Amino acid sequence: MKDETRKIDIFDTTLRDGEQSPGCTMNLHDKLLVVEHLEGLRVDVIEAGFAAASEGDFEAVRKVAAAAKHAAVASLCRALPKDIDRAWEGIRHAARPRIHTFLATSPIHMRFKLKMAPDAVYEQAVKMVRYARNLCGDVEFSLEDASRSERPFIYRVVEGVVAAGARTVNIPDTVGYAVPEEFARLIADIRANVDMRGARLAVHCHNDLGLAVANSLAAVRAGADQVECTLNGIGERAGNAALEEVVMALATRREAYGVRTGIDATRIYAASRCVVQVTGNRVQANKAVVGENAFAHEAGIHQHGVLANPLTYEIMTPESVGVPKNRMVLGKHSGRHAFEARLRELGLFSFTPVQAQELFARFKGLADRKKTVSDTDIEALARDVQSPVVERVKLTSFNVLASNAVTPMSTVRLAVDGKVMEQAATGDGPINASLAAINKMLRCRDVTLETFKLNATTGGTDALGEVDVSVRKGNRVVRGHGSSTDIIEASILAYLHALNALMGEGEKR
Ligand code: KIV
Ligand code: ZN
Repeated sequence: MKDETRKIDIFDTTLRDGEQSPGCTMNLHDKLLVVEHLEGLRVDVIEAGFAAASEGDFEAVRKVAAAAKHAAVASLCRALPKDIDRAWEGIRHAARPRIHTFLATSPIHMRFKLKMAPDAVYEQAVKMVRYARNLCGDVEFSLEDASRSERPFIYRVVEGVVAAGARTVNIPDTVGYAVPEEFARLIADIRANVDMRGARLAVHCHNDLGLAVANSLAAVRAGADQVECTLNGIGERAGNAALEEVVMALATRREAYGVRTGIDATRIYAASRCVVQVTGNRVQANKAVVGENAFAHEAGIHQHGVLANPLTYEIMTPESVGVPKNRMVLGKHSGRHAFEARLRELGLFSFTPVQAQELFARFKGLADRKKTVSDTDIEALARDVQSPVVERVKLTSFNVLASNAVTPMSTVRLAVDGKVMEQAATGDGPINASLAAINKMLRCRDVTLETFKLNATTGGTDALGEVDVSVRKGNRVVRGHGSSTDIIEASILAYLHALNALMGEGEKR
């Protein structure tokens, strides 16, 4: 039977607003991995990036546009001809290209940022939407900081850009200032006061007050047709509305909202894990839907209830969001079939035959050292194997002298383009000393370590240590990742990974 309920479009901006947030930089290879998941989820629109921002962003937008077969692909651009042209250049070969242009409409933004009078903002918005429509049949216009804009001006701009050809008009809560009742009123008022001529109304909420999902849902109830969101809620400052939360709220409380999305929710968990892997940003254990504890029942009374009937304490099943059930423990006796089945459950599927071979060999090597290999161990190995960086500099060996009585010292031996070099240095700790030795050896004076994150994949002392770093050279920031049961080695590998990415062109494929 055909589903007659109103369809809400899911516009994913993980690769644009998400990637814009500190520590979430993704390289091209990472972005294409995320696209595979977004396509699997069946999101309606993938915002690929900001094509005019840099050559790298442009290239990423172009590659995402070519990779997406189902979703529309949008590039964000300022309401300026040169930005719009660049966006169009980036997406024009997509199956369904969309130009997404924006201009701020709030008094504070117009006065202090744009230094433009409202009439000039109105004219520019209308003119640029018309300009974009001459290039692309699908144009979205966003009224930046709409939630702090004045009603009559919002109506005027929405009406003007719709008449100029915008097919979607987005009402962002750019600074995360709105509260649900007020935001719902704004959407309902736009619906009541503007002839949308069939254009869709979108919302884009930031989470500064922890209300991004609540505001998005309130807007849907008030008549919004499209929700803009990100996986794991990553995004500028406190983030954007989390895709998994919006989708599962609409699905679980379907009777309350009376709408549907086209999302395959069983792909959520794997997509979320992928974003954790490529950004190095873990989700908190109690994060709704995708957190480690989202389906864990600790209290005895809860466990008893769930055993009697899962619905006592579970409003959605773990399987409904793709959390794998009844996992087999993987260890040194596990065969290739079991290992590959786990990779698929974790959403790790795009390996070349050579990578698949290497991954299995590394899994076996780790299983020899550890009794059981966890999912996070496997994800870390997969990420290392899939790294597209050309390894001009390789770690040969290191030797650390550390105690609480002497200054730590590390001697690192590297193969640089095949030539073996060695250097020793002291530091505040063995990791600091090792990185100092590398810097000295490679003369990395203009390279700064911006972030360093160390995680143990599981609770045990035999866990893999996973290290994520970001390294800056001029205005280029790259991320590096390394994993090992030895955290000093993991740190050295992560740092070398980033240095290798900075050298050469970076990408193999
Ligand atoms: O938060 C915001 O206003 C945005 C727009 C540019 C869509 O990201
Ligand atoms: Zn935003």
